[in-house]
Amino acid sequence: KSEEEKFKVGFSQAMTTDNWRREMNKSMKLEASMHPDIILEIKDAENHITNQVAHIEEFIKDGVDVLIVSPIQSIPITPAIEKAMAAGIPTIIIDRKIEGQNFTAYVGANNIEIGRNAAKYILSHSSGKADIIEITGQEGSSPAYERSMGFKKTLDSVPELKVRHVIKGDWEKTSIQSKLSDLLDSVKAPDYIFAHNDRMALGAWEVARSKSLEEEINIIGVDGVFGPNGGIQLVKDNILNATILYPTGGMETIKLAEDILNGENVNKNNILRTVIIDSVNVDIMQNQFNKMNQQQNDIEQQQEVIDKQIRTYNTQSDLIQLMLIL
Ligand code: FRU
Repeated sequence: KSEEEKFKVGFSQAMTTDNWRREMNKSMKLEASMHPDIILEIKDAENHITNQVAHIEEFIKDGVDVLIVSPIQSIPITPAIEKAMAAGIPTIIIDRKIEGQNFTAYVGANNIEIGRNAAKYILSHSSGKADIIEITGQEGSSPAYERSMGFKKTLDSVPELKVRHVIKGDWEKTSIQSKLSDLLDSVKAPDYIFAHNDRMALGAWEVARSKSLEEEINIIGVDGVFGPNGGIQLVKDNILNATILYPTGGMETIKLAEDILNGENVNKNNILRTVIIDSVNVDIMQNQFNKMNQQQNDIEQQQEVIDKQIRTYNTQSDLIQLMLIL
């Protein structure tokens, strides 16, 4: 296909300051490179709703064939998505949800289950009673709400396990460190901290350590990103007791876009699997990710070789054409 004939897929990404989202972009690009009929364009909203709305509107104007959005927050982004749908652009939502059902498909893990799994982990590892601090993700983003809901619902049925305090975070550790520090100065150290992602969980550990409480407090996070400072490494280093894998869904989303472009009927809800990672399975997980990473690098290298060959072929055929004219 010539460049003009290719399908345009526009992705409005919430931000790319963290490794989880960088991983999402990477897996999307890799999957897109396997589908030569599509061109993927990513716009980074840098965590500003106004940017994200503007990006979606630009994609609508550009007439993209499929729009993908990873919303910053649910409510403010919904009208822009509705506009895209009204313009007849199939729209896939990934990770954080929007309000209502006016979209083509959703890709993401079940965040209520993630909350439930965190609670069940505490239930099966604590000896009867446990005091808990919960550190939440950004208000107005669906994973924060749903992780809390699943967590509380499960704990409600167990009176010995109590969420004593909730600290409101915004997904980044700087949002919770001074609040947690003040809290730990004034109350008894909790047995568990459940933080809605690994970055805040690491932040909580740093605070605990600064007060020599890191051995007393067990910390659970979410994401389980592979690589330096990612959740898997943090579990391996005994900084976190556990993390709950939250797959980015990048690859699945591009596959879904391709299915839509091929005129196939797709499922509206595409729920990704999660798993608890702790000292029992962390090595297996790390090995799996190592292998996967190696394969991805191989594919990327092969892709580079192919691109180079195409470029050489194009210059050669340009030369031949030129010689024919002369
Ligand atoms: C990445 C992130 C993850 C979290 C997800 C929730 O930007 O903060 O850490 O699991 O977003 O939407």
